[in-house]
Amino acid sequence: MILSNRLSASRYLSEGKKIIDAAVLSLLPQQDAYPDVIHKAMHYSLRAGGKRLRPVLVIAAAEAVGGDRKAVLPFAVAAELIHTYTLIHDDLPALDNDDLRRGKPANHKVFGEAVAILTGDALLTQAFILMTQSAGMKPVPPARLLDAAHEMATALGSAGMIGGQVVDLESEGKPIDAETLEYIHVHKTGFLIQACIRCGGILSQATPRQLSALSRFGAHVGLAFQIVDDILDITGNEKKIGKDMGGDLTKDKATYPSLYGLEESRRKAESLVEESVACLQEFDGRADPLRDIARFFVRRTF
Ligand code: IPE
Ligand code: IPE
Ligand code: MG
Ligand code: MG
Ligand code: MG
Repeated sequence: MILSNRLSASRYLSEGKKIIDAAVLSLLPQQDAYPDVIHKAMHYSLRAGGKRLRPVLVIAAAEAVGGDRKAVLPFAVAAELIHTYTLIHDDLPALDNDDLRRGKPANHKVFGEAVAILTGDALLTQAFILMTQSAGMKPVPPARLLDAAHEMATALGSAGMIGGQVVDLESEGKPIDAETLEYIHVHKTGFLIQACIRCGGILSQATPRQLSALSRFGAHVGLAFQIVDDILDITGNEKKIGKDMGGDLTKDKATYPSLYGLEESRRKAESLVEESVACLQEFDGRADPLRDIARFFVRRTF
């Protein structure tokens, strides 16, 4: 079954979420496998909820270039495991020190800091097991798999997501310039989102021209996503979002609203999404889910 591109963004996302939820459970080690504390902790954070946007973007990007969902499913699951690892570590006392995630106590509140650190490590490692294992299961040429796994690793490393997290932490309580703020957001959040989109394309034999358009699309939506996350930290409903609200302000974090104000931040996110959709002009209706998800990125309230 291919996810129909006629579905609205919310239908596409809710159907995609179901597919991902089932695949996550089938591709994680059993939660009672020895040593069960680590497997329970991995399941805990993944079962807590989450929008599953990154894995759905892998699928939507694959389908936009005529690819098959089944071929990219292990990779899509890997993207969610990676994202969940970044959240578990982001909430640790040494980083953002947050207690609520996906509507539940954060992993470190339930399992303790040591197990939370190891849970993140285990999820990241499991993701690379899945990305490299899929060679034997699916008709994706090994060279493409290697490219995609390399892409993902690069997006996550010290020149990617980790670099963004480091500068985010270093910038707490300090005045910040526009360039540094953009560096933080593009790296800590944008790179993984862009990598998910590019990986969907790479695994589905996207042409260089298509891949370049997907990259530009991903860069714009990735930055827009974090700007909206900053806005929601101020304007969001805690019950709906499932995270502690207002933490950016109390930690004096470098955010778009703190530098530009709420209105200007909203405008920036909206114009990034418009630019992102314009990057897909050479794609046909099969890219409609990508276009719709991009618009959802600025409309979302959770
Ligand atoms: C939250 O991401 C962390 C950021 C990178 C902004 P999401 O808002 O996608 O979190 P979940 O997966 O739905 O919990
Ligand atoms: C999170 O940014 C980025 C990563 C997890 C890499 P935030 O710190 O703003 O995310 P939330 O608001 O805690 O979800
Ligand atoms: Mg953070
Ligand atoms: Mg945080
Ligand atoms: Mg945030």
